[in-house]
Amino acid sequence: MKKYIPVLDRFLLRGKTAVVTGGCGNLGPWFVQALLDVKAHVAIIDLPKRTIPSTLTLHSSSLLFYKGNITNPRQLKTIHKKILNELGPIDILVNNAGIDIPPQKIGIYMENRPHAKKMWDVNVSGAVNCINEFIADMKKKKKGSIINIGSLYGERSPNERFYTHLQFDKPWDYGATKAALMQVTRYFATRLAKWNIRINTLSPGGVFNNQDKTFIQKYSSRIPLSRMAQKETDLGGPLVFLASDASAYVTGTNLQVNGGFTAW
Ligand SMILES: NC(=O)c1ccc[n+]([C@@H]2O[C@H](COP(=O)([O-])OP(=O)(O)OC[C@H]3O[C@@H](n4cnc5c(N)ncnc54)[C@H](O)[C@@H]3O)[C@@H](O)[C@H]2O)c1
Repeated sequence: MKKYIPVLDRFLLRGKTAVVTGGCGNLGPWFVQALLDVKAHVAIIDLPKRTIPSTLTLHSSSLLFYKGNITNPRQLKTIHKKILNELGPIDILVNNAGIDIPPQKIGIYMENRPHAKKMWDVNVSGAVNCINEFIADMKKKKKGSIINIGSLYGERSPNERFYTHLQFDKPWDYGATKAALMQVTRYFATRLAKWNIRINTLSPGGVFNNQDKTFIQKYSSRIPLSRMAQKETDLGGPLVFLASDASAYVTGTNLQVNGGFTAW
């Protein structure tokens, strides 16, 4: 019979090393904080112009910031060597870095769309670059967890009624990159399972960020829980679930954290 481990203990990541890309942005610090709360050591990878958030609480684990661009595999290799020296082999990868280009810049039908290409490079190829680089450690350990941060808009087309009063429509590209990322999840879940490496998508719905009041009203009225997500409290729990042994038999799936948006 397999040894029973009490359920709360299965959520703990004591002694594990996690990489979080884009950890200095809006949501990233809250993903980082959740991993620190359950005792993981965390390596943030973010662009050189960013700084490590000062609000994070360490709880006796380590937090290091590595400046780099996930679209550059050579930089990732160098960072990987540094993480191995400073924190040890990687157990958890959170592919959180992502970009969404404003509709005014990208258009919908324009012929020359360099901004759109950048979105594919970061949101999809950048995530795959990180998977390629960091699975080596997980393969050696025959264990690992990868979480791709998707979006509600990877499964649902943006509702143009939320945006008409703002005089723009959301382009299709962002959601298309997030839909592609879900396929990346399914693909690698099947290819990496033999090393006991799990990979799942966590798809937040709209997160409150002092947006336009009418937008918040329109969006919230479409949500069974009647509110947007709170980055401080709504996302860390689902992330720790997917990162930890609490989800040991979960792979290839998409955890929707959207207040019930997709239930209606
Ligand atoms: N905020 C939301 O409402 C929301 C909703 C659903 C999904 N998401 C997803 O959550 C993730 C985080 O969103 P956010 O709101 O914190 O975005 P954000 O723009 O505030 O932060 C993104 C972070 O990624 C970093 N980054 C961008 N390109 C990079 C690159 N090439 N290499 C390394 N780092 C890079 C940025 O410097 C930044 O720190 C994204 O993947 C986003 O698509 C956000």
